[in-house]
Amino acid sequence: MFVVRRARDEDLPEVMKINLETLPENYWYGFYKSLLDNWGEAFLVAEAEGKLVGYAMSRIEEQSDPVLLGLAKEEEVGLLRRVISSFKGELRPVGHLVSIAVRSPYRRMGIGSSLLRETINVVRDFYKADSIYLEVRVTNYPAINLYEKFGFKKVRVIKGYYSDGEDAYVMVLRLKAP
Ligand SMILES: CC(C)(COP(=O)(O)OP(=O)(O)OC[C@H]1O[C@@H](n2cnc3c(N)ncnc32)[C@H](O)[C@@H]1OP(=O)(O)O)[C@@H](O)C(=O)NCCC(=O)NCCS
Repeated sequence: MFVVRRARDEDLPEVMKINLETLPENYWYGFYKSLLDNWGEAFLVAEAEGKLVGYAMSRIEEQSDPVLLGLAKEEEVGLLRRVISSFKGELRPVGHLVSIAVRSPYRRMGIGSSLLRETINVVRDFYKADSIYLEVRVTNYPAINLYEKFGFKKVRVIKGYYSDGEDAYVMVLRLKAP
């Protein structure tokens, strides 16, 4: 049994611990705090057996890139279209899932799915975003499977995105009809 709820200030030290245990991408306290202060509805934690076992944190960005808006794949977007869309200045709200993790003994129980489902709901219904996107290591099959289960599509590869040189997929889920 677990519950997913909005994070509070006092959860941040434990969220940071989970992040350190589970991912090589780590952040300073102020980064977590600014996500919570600015986009708190989309900062979620999962609780089981009286302790935090997972989190998902996101921010909302203004984007005009058709790829991040979920309107096209990288290979379909010529340079011209990208330049035009950035000049036209049609900025739209887009969710960016910054980090999601579940402590290893609690995996494969649906907690990651619940965190992701609630993130998508909040980003779409509360923040009114057109799409949600994320970066993921190209070898992180558990996470890629999870995102694909929810309909995210691989739209771009960023070469050497991670500090150890690994490439990232950008994956996007369109939340609104185009
Ligand atoms: C990715 C992660 C959050 C998934 O959390 P979880 O609670 O285990 O996810 P769920 O139990 O809801 O699983 C949902 C789906 O994800 C996929 N999945 C999860 N773990 C998997 C694994 N080890 N191998 C393959 N697919 C996996 C499956 O499609 C699964 O659905 P299924 O159980 O019906 O097959 C978790 O593995 C994790 O914390 N990993 C380390 C941190 C990380 O990589 N975060 C993502 C950074 S981009």
